[in-house]
Amino acid sequence: MVSYKELGLVNSKDLFRKAVDGGYAIPAFNFNNMEQLQAIVSACVATKSPVILQVSSGARNYANQTLLRYMAQGAVQYAKELGYEIPIVLHLDHGDSFELCKDCIESGFSSVMIDGSHLPYEENIALTKKVVEYAHQYDVTVEGELGVLAGIEDEVQAEHHTYTEPDEVVDFVSRTGVDSLAISIGTSHGAFKFTPEQCTRNEEGVLVPPPLRFDILEEIEKRIPGFPIVLHGSSSVPQQYVKIINENGGKLNDSIGIPEDQLRKAAKSAVCKINIDSDGRLAMTAAVREVLAKKPAEFDPRKYLGPAREELKKLYMHKTEEVLGSAGKA
Ligand code: G3H
Ligand code: 13P
Ligand code: ZN
Repeated sequence: MVSYKELGLVNSKDLFRKAVDGGYAIPAFNFNNMEQLQAIVSACVATKSPVILQVSSGARNYANQTLLRYMAQGAVQYAKELGYEIPIVLHLDHGDSFELCKDCIESGFSSVMIDGSHLPYEENIALTKKVVEYAHQYDVTVEGELGVLAGIEDEVQAEHHTYTEPDEVVDFVSRTGVDSLAISIGTSHGAFKFTPEQCTRNEEGVLVPPPLRFDILEEIEKRIPGFPIVLHGSSSVPQQYVKIINENGGKLNDSIGIPEDQLRKAAKSAVCKINIDSDGRLAMTAAVREVLAKKPAEFDPRKYLGPAREELKKLYMHKTEEVLGSAGKA
């Protein structure tokens, strides 16, 4: 058993309390490799933002779970070397079983998500409660989920949103003992969150997706005042990256994300954790495609992964400063 405390990591409890009170959200950025981790840490140190490093099952399979854990441990030292100590959480994203959560807790994660959102309600409660009872023995925080996001959640594909039912949240939170709750109010995973038909055009001809269901968020906040709320699927799909990708041999049609003003508004409420993965994938891919298209003879990975890392850092700094409001809160 390795405790996250020995690794210099923190759980999310204090961070969420301060974020809810302060009207901002902590960024939860996914990582699968070294360049993503370097960009996340250097951006959050540069903007003095707390950060949640997220690892999915897919990331564990891709990069090896042991390596990822040591990388997160290294991230704490790296932040110190960069000259400013920021609180760093190592979080399991979309845990789908008790065993996976237990394994992560025993290998140094400070926070886990148990995603029972696709299960029948009582089964979601039973599974989430079991994870909470185990995690809390080690002071590890737990995120549960109620409601189903449309799109792809790991291997689970849902056609339509099932918005979180406000009448269920008090029962769910009190019976499971979770520390935070992910809800479904219109966000979804991936780079194709809306079809153009679902959007309207503004005066500049830009597609504007339907707004998030802030009415549901408000109802939830009334039922569990001040309780930490999490938004998944919160990439904005920056169109400048889509353009660069498409101009350099890529083919991303109709990729549409959550407008930043919607996320800014959410961050001011009890939403205290905002999950962003796809935007990082787009930034990296745009930079790599651009370098390789301009310099076809280049074959040193540092020459394209280096610029990708720089672009990612810019993106993450922008998120903490202009979108989530977490800059300066570390
Ligand atoms: O919500 C899912 C995250 O974006 C992680 O994606 O399962 O492909 O690693 P992944
Ligand atoms: P995006 O696909 O919108 O980046 O969402 C990521 C996420 O929710 C990770 O859990
Ligand atoms: Zn998610």
